[in-house]
Amino acid sequence: MAFNQKFLEELRQRIPIYTVIGRKIKLVRSGRFWKACCPFHGEKTPSFYVYEDHFHCYGCGIHGDVISFVMQSEGRTFNEAITELAALAGLEVPEQTPQDRQRIEKQHTLYDVMLAAQEYYCSALDMSAAKAGKHYLLERGIQKETFESFKLGWSGDGRGGLIHFLQKKGYSLDLIGEAGLLRKKTETEWSGELFFNRVIYPIHDCKGRPIAFGGRIIGDGQPKYLNSPETPLFSKRRILYGLNRLSSLFKRNKIDPLYNTVVVVEGYMDVIALYQAGFYGAVAPLGTALTKEQMKLLWRVTSEPVLCFDGDKAGYKAMLHAAEESLPILTPEHSLNFLPLPEGEDPDSFVKNNGSEAFLSLLSKKQSLCDALYGIISAHVDRNSPEQRAFLKTQLLSIAQKINDETLSKEYRRIFMDRFYQQFHSKNNQFRNNQYVNKNLLISIQKIDKIQVDYERICILFAILLKYPDLLFSVESAFFKLDLPNQFVNLRAAMLEIFLESESFEKRIKRLKEEGFADLIKEINNQSSIFIPQQESTKCDAHLVERHWWHFYGLLNIHELEFQVEQARKKWVQCPDEHHQNIFIARLKALNIAKTGSNTEQEDEIL
Ligand code: CTP
Ligand code: MN
Repeated sequence: MAFNQKFLEELRQRIPIYTVIGRKIKLVRSGRFWKACCPFHGEKTPSFYVYEDHFHCYGCGIHGDVISFVMQSEGRTFNEAITELAALAGLEVPEQTPQDRQRIEKQHTLYDVMLAAQEYYCSALDMSAAKAGKHYLLERGIQKETFESFKLGWSGDGRGGLIHFLQKKGYSLDLIGEAGLLRKKTETEWSGELFFNRVIYPIHDCKGRPIAFGGRIIGDGQPKYLNSPETPLFSKRRILYGLNRLSSLFKRNKIDPLYNTVVVVEGYMDVIALYQAGFYGAVAPLGTALTKEQMKLLWRVTSEPVLCFDGDKAGYKAMLHAAEESLPILTPEHSLNFLPLPEGEDPDSFVKNNGSEAFLSLLSKKQSLCDALYGIISAHVDRNSPEQRAFLKTQLLSIAQKINDETLSKEYRRIFMDRFYQQFHSKNNQFRNNQYVNKNLLISIQKIDKIQVDYERICILFAILLKYPDLLFSVESAFFKLDLPNQFVNLRAAMLEIFLESESFEKRIKRLKEEGFADLIKEINNQSSIFIPQQESTKCDAHLVERHWWHFYGLLNIHELEFQVEQARKKWVQCPDEHHQNIFIARLKALNIAKTGSNTEQEDEIL
């Protein structure tokens, strides 16, 4: 007896799988999943994992949902397991409606039709009429044994051979059409076979049943690949080419477990080429972007599938798209990895040109989702542009926010921000090069834009003066010699006037804001927040503050700073007290830093 899918879905939802498994073995919670020693094979350390909706043993590979657990652990049939679980859930086992029965029967027949079609296509490949197709496959480096393993075929010329073959087996034209093997003339009429003169790549479901076909044209015609339409059996968003092969993946003994990596590639040929190179875990979406449903399918087999798309713009975009798509559904145990290829290569060409060892070594350098995202997004940021840095920061924070898993989201935010500060605001030069940018992805790094650098320095000078207004009178003449953008010229004038008139810090700022400078002050504080803490500082050494101010000034106008040093030296000679000595030293030190570019005392962030 077959059951209505809706009922089965409800049954699965009503009974949390861990409660059923928990009745049989002791489960230990570990984050969002449970662990135990596998009840299906003897083991001492737990490799049996129970997730929200399924279980998986990383030791023996056994796998399934709540229904199959009951079947496998108690030796029940499907019907018995359903009856037992329904009783547990307090659900009535539904009577099947005639429509249900009809639909299920139809599905079964469609599977049969597709299996027969696969048989037809496969045997056609051995006919002399398939010479061109066979030649094409061999030319592309596909070995004869691989034909069988992937059930590769030839469509024939499309003039009715397949229809005839299937009708002889008793399938009606309508059924053949519903299986997606015919072109539609109108809503109800068919007009001949869909595939002709094409190499056929059958697409299998998890159980290895053919549910669709992809056909490649020989030579350069269009479309290059033609795929079956959506049918009751086939939904391209919910299946991956090669998915059925993953179930046996972990049983294969390989010297290096990396050979068993689940790799998502773009095309049929990539899956096949990797298989021939010894990598049995390759799968491909069917000409669409990787969907959430497909990620969930992959996560049933592995916690971190590796995405390895073509080394071109489209592949790069597909990677970014998949990364973004995955964010809401990431968990600590379900993520993605990335493997960018050199420009112009796809996995097929890469293993052909470089061999499997080279792909193996590439695999060992795969990037985590977190690293890849950081690398991609920060790749083109000009480290000296405050605007670009601010934009990057916003982007990073918004990515972290898209992760629904709270703990993970926080971790991403923390890692992103650590890297951001390391890369852009570290005193330590070793972090200045973006180590997360993958060279394969980089086309060019933007040139340093001096105007933007200067803009940030100007903001810092203003910010220091807004915070330590008394300094203004000591640096006034140099400050007024700076070339500034218009809005800063106005603020400078207003500052001098207001600082002379009002006494308290708060009053001065308040008046500046009243004069219409509120937005500019906010911008200045934002731009300089990295260098100048926003909170009220404890009493700070005035000379130290002054030295910092001159430091940034010197980076903007070194000639004036030289002049200022000379002035201060003269004044100190005339009036040799500690005050004048400190003023001279502050400017001299700043000058040295501006000239040599090195700040041996490393004080530029500790105001
Ligand atoms: N594809 C498709 N329809 C097309 C082109 C591509 O469905 N018109 C899908 C196919 O699944 C194909 C995949 O996208 O395998 C990758 O496309 P592409 O990189 O163009 O194909 P390759 O695998 O590189 O094709 P080949 O090596 O056969 O030229
Ligand atoms: Mn390709």
